[in-house]
Amino acid sequence: MSKKRIAVLVSGSGTNLQAIINQIDRGRIDAEITLVISDKVNAYGLVRAKNQNIPTYLLHEDVLKDDYNQKLLDKLQSEKIDLVVLAGYLKILPAKIIEHYRNRIINIHPSLIPSFCGKGYYGLKVHEAAIEYGVKVSGATVHFVDEIADHGPIILQKSLEVTNEDDPQSLQKKVLEIEYEILPETIRLFCEDRIQVEGRRVIIKQEE
Ligand code: GRF
Repeated sequence: MSKKRIAVLVSGSGTNLQAIINQIDRGRIDAEITLVISDKVNAYGLVRAKNQNIPTYLLHEDVLKDDYNQKLLDKLQSEKIDLVVLAGYLKILPAKIIEHYRNRIINIHPSLIPSFCGKGYYGLKVHEAAIEYGVKVSGATVHFVDEIADHGPIILQKSLEVTNEDDPQSLQKKVLEIEYEILPETIRLFCEDRIQVEGRRVIIKQEE
């Protein structure tokens, strides 16, 4: 079987992208990141990609919306991308791309969905909301992307304890450590064709 071709979309520092690169380098994931895409010219994720000689593609925001969407779809198709990974990508993907790549786009979110997710919940805001609410556990979720923000079928989740000492910054740091585990793990499962979607439920098939 040929290696799956992955595109990773980033808007920021790209530490999750780095975690994926590291797991591929260690031979844990049999795949290739063939493209890193960003909507932000100064996203550090682009530097991480360049350091690894991974081709990058910058989406300029000054193009018309339809043009922008079409350019992204054209790029993914011409690069024969098998899996699209949103790793801190802040733009909403257009319905056309979601439809085309149904159950082949995954997103990592820094809370236990369906808590603290959807419109307005990104970055530190997620952890501020969790602390303010007083939850005793939080965590991270990897899910397939559908037309509603942070709503598609859940693939993996992992939780951690929120202590009295936590503030939004410390919680963000702890959750990121979980993200670096479950995002590469999801990609590994995808590349081994072990993820099956039945309605909203995702079944992980046993290793053969
Ligand atoms: C992560 O917390 C991720 O869950 C969210 O955006 C953040 C990206 O961080 N979607 P990084 O760019 O991978 O460091």
